[in-house]
Amino acid sequence: MMAFPFPFPSSSFIIMTCLVVIFLVAGSEAAKSNNKARAFFVFGDSLVDSGNNNYLVTTARADSPPYGIDYPTGRPTGRFSNGLNIPDLISQQLGAESVLPYLSPELRGEKLLNGANFASAGIGILNDTGAQFLNIIRMYRQLDYFGEYQRRVSAQIGAARTKTLVNQALVLITVGGNDFVNNYYLVPYSARSRQYSLPDYVKFLIIEYRKLLQRLYDLGARRVLVTGTGPLGCVPAELAMRGTNGGCSAELQRAASLYNPQLVHMIQGLNKKIGKDVFIAANTGEMHNNFVNNPKAFGFTTSQIACCGQGPYNGIGLCTSISNLCPNRNLYAFWDPFHPSEKANKLIVQQIMSGSTKYMNPMNLSTVLALDSTSTT
Ligand SMILES: *[C@@H]1O[C@H](CO)[C@@H](O)[C@H](O)[C@H]1NC(C)=O
Ligand SMILES: *[C@@H]1O[C@H](CO)[C@@H](O)[C@H](O)[C@H]1NC(C)=O
Repeated sequence: MMAFPFPFPSSSFIIMTCLVVIFLVAGSEAAKSNNKARAFFVFGDSLVDSGNNNYLVTTARADSPPYGIDYPTGRPTGRFSNGLNIPDLISQQLGAESVLPYLSPELRGEKLLNGANFASAGIGILNDTGAQFLNIIRMYRQLDYFGEYQRRVSAQIGAARTKTLVNQALVLITVGGNDFVNNYYLVPYSARSRQYSLPDYVKFLIIEYRKLLQRLYDLGARRVLVTGTGPLGCVPAELAMRGTNGGCSAELQRAASLYNPQLVHMIQGLNKKIGKDVFIAANTGEMHNNFVNNPKAFGFTTSQIACCGQGPYNGIGLCTSISNLCPNRNLYAFWDPFHPSEKANKLIVQQIMSGSTKYMNPMNLSTVLALDSTSTT
């Protein structure tokens, strides 16, 4: 507190002091609420997992080198990236710290109010997706945890403020790719591929995904970025396993091309039913296609060979300390056989922020942020 160097009559001194104190408190509250970024919640698979699987008994993990080699700490964190992942880069755009994995013991107290990341590598829309990874947090469980999170926050700041925090939050959900790669196409004659033709399987996935999004809405989410799948057939793993002469896997590309438009259509239907643009479709397939089809234009030397891996295209098996490792990760679109590099993630988040309606439907994230900051509710 400041000291007054000259004498005041005592009553006006007290009034002055009170005014100064009120002013300072009000000022710092206003600064706090202005500076306080909106909360951020993340759901989905390895593309957005920031380390939940580190706490689970699963083979789907990214907790040993060289994962994290370009992360600020230079150490693995559980992110499936050489550095930052898509949620980290969105947090930066929100002016916030990265949100912690829900299972992290550090996620408590004040930190809970920044949001949480519930994503878990290996999961899909369906419960049977990723069964080979054993103990992972399936979608229904991620949503249960979101409910649990809200009860914990309510105990801290009360139910009304918790509801506001959740309603005003930004949410990201990235799921679906594994329902093809780690389910339908995991093995020849998989149970799901005997049960459904590809077009029927896609319809089934969309119906189940709609239920998940509806539940997210029922749990209070009001601004949700929903990403489509990338070019599933063109990742280094698929080039190595299924591609012909460097071409993408036609079957997986067909899956993505059936799935992505139906996802957008389903989202539009949900928004219409709700009467508001709650769900925003991010056309990550198209965002990837740009640098997959024309890597040089984006500063990559290759979009076919993974930076870390082994075998053709470095696309076989896992990225480990004994894998090939490229010296300059910025020159590679893919970090490992399945996951984009930090540089590619940055290109994706740029488009999420400011892409045209070809990429972001019905609007980009900078428009969302501008709208939400001026809305009075
Ligand atoms: C997944 O499992 C949970 C818990 O058993 C169940 O409530 C949910 O309906 C299942 N989802 C699907 C798509 O089968
Ligand atoms: C997306 O964001 C930019 C601002 O970065 C804005 O100028 C542009 O009009 C937006 N595009 C669409 C289609 O909303």
